Amino acid sequence: MCLEDLIELAGGLSNIYRVLLPEHHVSLAVRNPDVIKDLPADVVLEKVLEEWHLTALSDETVNEEALFELGRSIEAHQRAQLIDLAQPVACHYRPSWHIAPPRGLLNDPNGFIFHDGQYHLFYQWSPVGCAHTDKYWVHTKSDDLLNWHWNDVALTPSDWFDSHGVYSGHAVSLDKALMVFYTGNVRLGAERYRQTMQCAAISQAGEPLHKIGPVIRELPPGVTEHTRDPKVIYRNGKWMMFLGTQTTAMQGRLAVYHSEDLHHWQFDNLYGHELGDFGYMWECPDIFSVNGQDCFVFAPQGIPSESEFNTVPHQNRIAQVSFNERDEISISKLQILDHGFDFYAPQSMETPDGRRVMCGWMGLPDELKHPTCHSGWIHQLTALRELEFVGGKIVQHPLRELSALRGELRDIQLDNASVDLNTKTFELLTELEWGARLRLFEDDQYNVEIYLDPIKHRLLLDRTNTQIEEGDTVREVELSSGNVALQILADNSSLEIFINHGEAVMTARVFTPESATRLSVKDATVNLQVYELQAPTAPYRA
Ligand code: FRU
Repeated sequence: MCLEDLIELAGGLSNIYRVLLPEHHVSLAVRNPDVIKDLPADVVLEKVLEEWHLTALSDETVNEEALFELGRSIEAHQRAQLIDLAQPVACHYRPSWHIAPPRGLLNDPNGFIFHDGQYHLFYQWSPVGCAHTDKYWVHTKSDDLLNWHWNDVALTPSDWFDSHGVYSGHAVSLDKALMVFYTGNVRLGAERYRQTMQCAAISQAGEPLHKIGPVIRELPPGVTEHTRDPKVIYRNGKWMMFLGTQTTAMQGRLAVYHSEDLHHWQFDNLYGHELGDFGYMWECPDIFSVNGQDCFVFAPQGIPSESEFNTVPHQNRIAQVSFNERDEISISKLQILDHGFDFYAPQSMETPDGRRVMCGWMGLPDELKHPTCHSGWIHQLTALRELEFVGGKIVQHPLRELSALRGELRDIQLDNASVDLNTKTFELLTELEWGARLRLFEDDQYNVEIYLDPIKHRLLLDRTNTQIEEGDTVREVELSSGNVALQILADNSSLEIFINHGEAVMTARVFTPESATRLSVKDATVNLQVYELQAPTAPYRA
């Protein structure tokens, strides 16, 4: 059966919302099965979980060009639905200077790059509801790393190779062209068998991204379909692609490919064996150099936590890597990138003046119940941070451009007292002695507390007394001795705490009422510098 005939049998293009290619077959998911009549013997209409699929044996007339055309029709329908979904809902938890979705669910940052004179930052988006459904890529752009503008929905899950999600990936700048690599996620049959391909799309001279299709169709040997999130770099005269993967022995690893032309890829090897059992899957690899040190960032899943308070198996790590003369990789000296609650799947890029700037997802894979869901959206991206490699370690600072958001400075001294800041959008600089407690986002009922435990020499971040609906409530980090310097970025429902000039960072979503704008100090006398932060352009559809 040719594709055109199957489309006609399905009731025409407008009745089709998905196309799948299970082995030797083509399946069309249809909106209304009742219009399908008089099926030939070799065509089956069956219910697969919640969907109606019309399936036929595929023959040579079902070529990729015809499938691509069908994808464009599905895409046009998906884009028509997005017009309303791209309008932001009002909600007092909404950040005033972080990137958040207009509605729906945001997860990983994607394609973060400086290209052709502008910064580009995409993100994973499920436009409907607060669940992880078929992902889209939203494209935001900026001239200054502060004002982010909604550009468009760059990629939609409309093709046979990405029908259940245009998953995460990175971008490469090729003069005027921007090429992005992503994982096409597909689920087949009632078992929802996962099919994974690494795909590419290209934008010429600022035009919308145009899908090229899969560039890697087969899995490397010894891994499962959990192989995803391509990062592509140019090194030693060739392109290298890094993928997070899971071996058939359920160990997280890094898969590496190389290419001469970005279209044809050869598998090199799996790396990370020196880490032994370090989680069952590694997501979102990033590889880059900071002050001459090559680093590997990844999101290991299923590793034990170093703290009794942390029950989340999905974590973040940065490691030092070395490449030998054959570009084989060894990984060592792991550091936790963020000790807070909500930090995952970060990506980085290099600014024209040579800084390494990182953005993460301020959320976690299993975290799906936030008070924002009552308004129809969930999660946001983190502030941008600059990474440096100093004294054998990575240190992190808020992006220096963020200081342009500072409004008036208030110098406050508190001795076991409180002050109403009348805002939840501020930057706070202070130094605390051991034993001190600092409460933020406070009213008579709610607050989040930073406590410097003098016995264990740990900073504890406690969000027990907040409107949290799900998730851990305490995080801790061990610190070097001496007073503790804090630089805190607050944005309505988030805190990013940079400790001891970047020695450690803690990121948290914190929900308290809109009017909970008090700050208080217990068991200490504290000098605080507080800047109200001014909102830049909100990155929503104009
Ligand atoms: C990480 C992740 C990636 C995947 C994407 C799907 O949060 O699971 O591995 O590509 O999210 O949205």
